[in-house]
Amino acid sequence: MHRAAALACLVLAPAAFAAEDMRQLASLTPAAQATLRDEMLGNLRAVNEIIGLLGAGKLAEAGAVAETELGIAAMGRNRLLPMDARPGPQMPPAMHRLGIDGHQAASRFADAAKAGDQPLALQRLGELTTSCVACHHAWRVR
Ligand code: HEC
Repeated sequence: MHRAAALACLVLAPAAFAAEDMRQLASLTPAAQATLRDEMLGNLRAVNEIIGLLGAGKLAEAGAVAETELGIAAMGRNRLLPMDARPGPQMPPAMHRLGIDGHQAASRFADAAKAGDQPLALQRLGELTTSCVACHHAWRVR
C-alpha cells in the first residue's frame, strides 16, 4: 500500500473503532502483558526524549537513545525472563513482525541521526512513529 493510502486508512480508522474494536486480539499471559506495558511506557519515554534532543539540535544523542532504547540493540531484552512473561514468543507471527519492523525503523533513524543528516532523520522519525501506529491499530491484547 502507498504511504499516503496507509495514512488515510489510519486517519479514518478511529470512527470505525468507536462503535466496535475491530483490532485482532493477541492472547498474552497476564505476566507477558505486564512486561509489554512496561516496555511500551519505555517506548513512549524514548520517543519523547528523542524529539526533545532533536529540537535541541542534538542529533547524535537522539540517535544513540533510539538505538539503545528502541533499535535492533534493544531486541531480545526479555530473553532472561521466564517464558510466561515474554511477550514476543506469545505474539502471533504477524504482530511479532510489526515489532521487529519497529526496531528496524528505530535503527534506520539512529543511523541518519548519528550521521548528522537532519532531513533524513526527520523523515525516518516519521517512519518510526508510523510503526507504533501500525501495530496499535491492528492488534490489542485485551
Ligand atoms: C508489535 C506491536 C506494537 C508496537 C510496534 C508498539 N506497540 Fe505500543 N502497545 C502495543 C500493545 C498490544 C499495547 C497494549 C498493552 C496493554 O493494553 O496491556 C500497547 C500499549 C502502548 C502504550 C500504553 C501503555 C499503558 O498501558 O499505559 C503506549 C504508551 C505505547 N504502547 C507506546 C508505543 C510506542 C511509542 C511505540 C513505538 C515506538 C509502540 N508503542 C510500538 C503494541 C505495540
